[in-house]
Amino acid sequence: MPSTSASAPAKIILVGEHAVVYNRPAIAVPVNAVRARVAIHPLIGQPSGNIQISAPGINLDSALKDLDIHHPLRVIIDSTLSTLGIALPPAFKLIITSTIPFAAGMGSSAAVSVAVVRGLTNFLGHPLQNDMVNSLAHEVEKIHHGTPSGIDNSVIAYNQPIYFCKEKPVELLHLPTALTLVIADSGIAASTSSLVNGVRSRWQANAPAYERLFDQIGELADLSRQALESGEYSNLGKLMTENHGLLVSMGVSTQELDQLVNAALNSGALGAKLTGSGGGGNIVALVGSNFKNEIEQSLTAAGAKRVITTQILPISSGENY
Ligand code: PMV
Repeated sequence: MPSTSASAPAKIILVGEHAVVYNRPAIAVPVNAVRARVAIHPLIGQPSGNIQISAPGINLDSALKDLDIHHPLRVIIDSTLSTLGIALPPAFKLIITSTIPFAAGMGSSAAVSVAVVRGLTNFLGHPLQNDMVNSLAHEVEKIHHGTPSGIDNSVIAYNQPIYFCKEKPVELLHLPTALTLVIADSGIAASTSSLVNGVRSRWQANAPAYERLFDQIGELADLSRQALESGEYSNLGKLMTENHGLLVSMGVSTQELDQLVNAALNSGALGAKLTGSGGGGNIVALVGSNFKNEIEQSLTAAGAKRVITTQILPISSGENY
């Protein structure tokens, strides 16, 4: 079996994080500028079933069998092999690298899972359909986050903009013109599960207020879908900024994130908001035909540790992995 490789993009939630956990719709887009990559090399002469894993970014170099059975990499490899009905694969070494910021709301864990499934199934000569890749990655997200909505693994597995509502079929969105996003990292790592748990406690303490917030965010997601599909990006920007205000009310923003959002808006962005679980991580700004450089510079001046500019193209590039 020859060596093979695969990769998967990062993601950004444009509208609807947190409310999506409570069955409201949300919109997410893939970010191809940063990716998780997997390379698989056969270990010639080694006995079948010998699987070695290397992930230099997290100082991991181990035999698969020596990882805890609940380790996310062990779970994704074991579940992929069992889906394919392969108990003893030929010996191989799997190497994972990623340029996606970790714990920053860009879906790094889901991207690694999707890249591993794609790499492994290609290596074994049995590539899987997107929906199966998606459901394998979703199981691993549960180890990372407890009760993930599934939006991260879905947008990354399909590698297209999506309209997502928990437990409903994923809807792929088609953009009439390119969308430019500037993503700025606060440099503060945040735990998705503790942010999601915080929202849950506050919801339990004051359900009517939080249900209202979730409803408002769901309405913004529906309006954003219309704006996105009809190319009304200045309207989309306003809806994103409105969404940020509701996330502030929900208690998941921080001073650093608010500062980055304001810097983007004051330098000409059409809209800006925190993206992902908040508490740190990234903000996303929607850029029109002007001011891209000004926005990038003012985000850096406002404390961004890394700025990524990415374009979502109208027609899928066909690059799925
Ligand atoms: O993993 P993050 O930080 O991109 O956050 C995921 C988005 C949430 O809505 C906060 C959680 C979820 O499961 O959808």
